[in-house]
Amino acid sequence: MTSSEIRKKYLEFFEKRGHKIIPSSSLIPEKDATTLFTGSGMQPLLPYLLGESHPGGKRLVNSQKCFRAEDIEEVGDNRHTTFFEMLGNWSLGDYFKAEQLPWFFEFLTDEVGLDPKRLYVTVFAGDKKNGIPKDEESSAIWKKLFQEKGIEVKEVELVTLARGGEFGMQGGRIFYYDAKKNWWSRTGAPEKMPANEPGGPDSEVFYDFHPELGEKCLMSGFGTFCHPNCDCGRFMEIGNSVFMEYLKKEDGSFEKLKQRNVDFGGGLERITAALGNDSDIFQIDIFKPLILELVSLSGKRYEDSAHQKSFRVIADHVRAATFMLADGVLPSHNDRGYILRRLIRRALRHLNRIEVSGEHLEILSKSVIKIYADQYPGLARSENGILSALREEEARFKKTLASGLRYVHGMTELQNISGKIISGADAFILFSTYGFPIEMTEEIAKEKGMTVDIKGFKSEMEKHQDISRAGAEKKFGGHGLYLKTGEVTIRDQSEVEKVTRLHTATHLLHQALRQTLGPEVRQNGSDITVERTRFDFNFPRKLTPEEVKSVEKLVNEKIKEDLPVSFVELPKAEAEKTGALFFFTAKYGDTVKVYYIGKDLNSAWSKEFCGGPHVAHTAEIGAFKISKEEAVASGLRRIRGIVEP
Ligand code: SER
Repeated sequence: MTSSEIRKKYLEFFEKRGHKIIPSSSLIPEKDATTLFTGSGMQPLLPYLLGESHPGGKRLVNSQKCFRAEDIEEVGDNRHTTFFEMLGNWSLGDYFKAEQLPWFFEFLTDEVGLDPKRLYVTVFAGDKKNGIPKDEESSAIWKKLFQEKGIEVKEVELVTLARGGEFGMQGGRIFYYDAKKNWWSRTGAPEKMPANEPGGPDSEVFYDFHPELGEKCLMSGFGTFCHPNCDCGRFMEIGNSVFMEYLKKEDGSFEKLKQRNVDFGGGLERITAALGNDSDIFQIDIFKPLILELVSLSGKRYEDSAHQKSFRVIADHVRAATFMLADGVLPSHNDRGYILRRLIRRALRHLNRIEVSGEHLEILSKSVIKIYADQYPGLARSENGILSALREEEARFKKTLASGLRYVHGMTELQNISGKIISGADAFILFSTYGFPIEMTEEIAKEKGMTVDIKGFKSEMEKHQDISRAGAEKKFGGHGLYLKTGEVTIRDQSEVEKVTRLHTATHLLHQALRQTLGPEVRQNGSDITVERTRFDFNFPRKLTPEEVKSVEKLVNEKIKEDLPVSFVELPKAEAEKTGALFFFTAKYGDTVKVYYIGKDLNSAWSKEFCGGPHVAHTAEIGAFKISKEEAVASGLRRIRGIVEP
């Protein structure tokens, strides 16, 4: 059975039981500002769970597009995806456990034909501290349902995950777990809920892909025994009935909501996988065409463990990116746009790994649009916009991916000597200069048997914040780059990028001044904020308007030439021999970085001692403008410059 057929059957099954079919909401939440994306079916329905009346009535059914950014790094195994469809049926103060559990069981077994012997269920073990009772009612309902199918039922009190590994299945069919596993709210367990947040006990259904294993786990090492919530991949959760009847109060205690709700969420892709009896979600009808396309493009085998993760990451990320673009998200420096950018860049990196050129991203996205033509015709309507956004992002990233990987390669050589850590500073350069999302750096590091100093990376991020937004200022390095400390958010990438562009522009300005006015021009200090660069230099008189114009022109010519920006690390004495400029009053260590702008160190147009970061290619700077030329003191001039997109 295809996923489309399952979706249709589900909607019709509940429609027959008095539910109104409602469309999927956008991936961009309208009624819930707590998350960047709609990550569950209940989010768009929150006001109705709290008591507002829904125009569709008290029984609703839908298939909701969901995206969970927190799962990005999990993608690559057999079952995690960032985007997925959640089948949902809703009782807004109407039916409860006695209807919900039998209906879902009937749907799974009689309607789509799953073998009930393969199904295992979990229920809430209770929470004494918060006065929430053990869910014996759900357990009794399940017991009857299984017995009616001729299946013997034993209840097992595993309660915690650790006990699951220790004691295993014990011949059980119904398993009790605590609030870490069988409680649902947008923020997780009762302790984690803020005041006025609704939540409740839940009951999950699992499908066993390997009944032949008996009590055994698919992977040794996780625990002695397997159990439904084990992480080994033997069991897959396919549906979750949340009995949303509690509200957390200001004082931290719980009270009953005005109405008892059912919030059911079922993974469409996972139910499809269970029906195919193949635990690899990437083999279902939605992903299969994408995987086959990648196989033919790359000439590599999907079964090959060296490439399987790449196949899966690409398939997942292309699908998610296509849906996001259709819902109006565009790649950018912040919030949703940044998550989208990470998805696209990570997909491109994995295409690169299996030796498929980045332009094929568009072809894959076209396939996604085709696969979903019936259910989501909106994708086809936005096709042009989706494809051109992918094309632009690909072009942007292409420029820096290869040089970024070369940078990592260079580092790897060094690391053989100095340990297996990518420093925070290097991770930051990969981020600011080459546009590598941090998890991509982590992933590359992992492939090379290295780790990344994430703490160090975060503190680099903090240092490179915009001073104009308050906070303590401090000078950094020998180059007068002003930095600030403060909260790090993804938002700041745009500012980091702007400062980086201005920094490279400052090197060009320095050289342009020397070429125009003479080699006696020497830097006397510089200061870069997110708005502008300020460059002080020794020169005896005011510049003529023509001189200012020609300096500006020269910088822009070098930007247009799109020269590569690179560095070498050298012992100080050798670095001096390269003819690189350095700042007299600054202190340098025994080895220094020489940043050069041009094809190679010898012929480079500009060379300076510098810690970076810089752009990878000068064209990234945009247009450079001198906004002011003035005197600071006798023989000391100051130029302010800005860059435009
Ligand atoms: N809200 C629950 C979940 O997301 C069930 O829909 O799992």
